[in-house]
Amino acid sequence: MKTLTQIVSLSAVSTLVDALPSTGVLIPRAPPSDFTPNPNVGPGGSRWKDSPHFRIYGATNDAVADRTIAMLEAAYNCFVDDLGWRSPGLSFRQDHDNGPWHKLNVYQLETLPGAAANTPTDLNRGLAWLNVAKTWMTEPGVVVHEFGHALTYSAGWWIDQYRTGAWWETVANFVADTYLTSPHCAPARAKYNQPEGNTIMELKKVIGDSFQVIVDGTVNTANHYQAFPFLTYLHNNPDQIQGLGTSIFPGVWTQYKRYSDETPLHVLERLIAPGGTKIQTVVAKYWARMAFVDINHPKAQTMWRSQRSQINYANLDNQGSGRWRVKSARRPRYMGANIIPLKTNGAVNVSVTVTVSGAGRLTPTLVVRQASGAVRYIEMVSGSGNVAVGNGEEAMLVVVNTPANLVLFDPFKLTAETNTGVDYTVQIVGATA
Ligand SMILES: *[C@@H]1O[C@H](CO)[C@@H](O)[C@H](O)[C@H]1NC(C)=O
Repeated sequence: MKTLTQIVSLSAVSTLVDALPSTGVLIPRAPPSDFTPNPNVGPGGSRWKDSPHFRIYGATNDAVADRTIAMLEAAYNCFVDDLGWRSPGLSFRQDHDNGPWHKLNVYQLETLPGAAANTPTDLNRGLAWLNVAKTWMTEPGVVVHEFGHALTYSAGWWIDQYRTGAWWETVANFVADTYLTSPHCAPARAKYNQPEGNTIMELKKVIGDSFQVIVDGTVNTANHYQAFPFLTYLHNNPDQIQGLGTSIFPGVWTQYKRYSDETPLHVLERLIAPGGTKIQTVVAKYWARMAFVDINHPKAQTMWRSQRSQINYANLDNQGSGRWRVKSARRPRYMGANIIPLKTNGAVNVSVTVTVSGAGRLTPTLVVRQASGAVRYIEMVSGSGNVAVGNGEEAMLVVVNTPANLVLFDPFKLTAETNTGVDYTVQIVGATA
């Protein structure tokens, strides 16, 4: 959705301040029911409407302001009250949650250059505000996306960390989609009388270009807006991996190694380390689940069923005698994947061997879906695996680039280290690709 393009203002000059004294323990105060207005955050204005956590400046009329407020209070209730994310009413310049708490300012503007909305920030006060073009004031895909940026600012530790930069959009779209569709936000939506919405996933990009680096900010081919189903997978945690689940937020921020400019994958690696799972395994399981979009997200699953015929699955070239080779342009890059539907004829035993040609490490998985919708995942050993595919069942092979070690990389400036795909061949018996 090009219209959702917005700007993250990352200043090179500021660093966070550790305001919490090293001695003494502060017991966090409970937030007040009505936050304090701060008209100095953003341009201010003479006409506004307040809610407990927001101030809406310049709305077309009261009805628009009320609708924006209901949507944002619902989002606040879901992410801050129910899921425990840090309040955007708290300054990111202080490393404690003891207040003061300020209303988040939202400014309605006639238009914004090249964007529907954006989230500037007052670096001195440590508070963000939202600018929203008039026509988008009540659109969750825009406004809750920007609210996601405000939440990321409030969490603090990704600010000025360039290798997290592209992930801000991934998080913001995750926030918007979770608000719109997730059972996690259902109580909050109900409380503020907000409807469940449609998913904003773009599966033709996510799956059709799954060979790309998992979060890629390259101009014209970027996937950083679309890559959020990875976060949905981590958050829903259908594989019940210790260290994942709803706690990844605020975990990816609170556990961020201060000023390290590490990537979010590095934080996730630490979050799951106590449970003994490797981040490479998590990424491989995520892509395996994307074969049939089996990530506990019914609306995404429905979207996949209706769009699958339009998704580009042409990943392999036929070399004859059951041998296939990955197309060079679609070799899976850093933490990217190929999802390969297998054509079978009736009940059959399928056996597959994936062989890396040259450098790199791959994790292949066989995935089989029953007519009922239940999906089973067959891990492969040393690149080989086999599975009995029953009548009416459907099989896919998922091949994921899982390098031995994480790379410190900036998705906006990919280099060969991450943006070179792994070449491989596949031998298939019992099916064709
Ligand atoms: C699959 O392999 C098993 C074990 O070798 C065999 O019993 C079964 O008949 C095979 N199924 C098909 C459909 O060929």
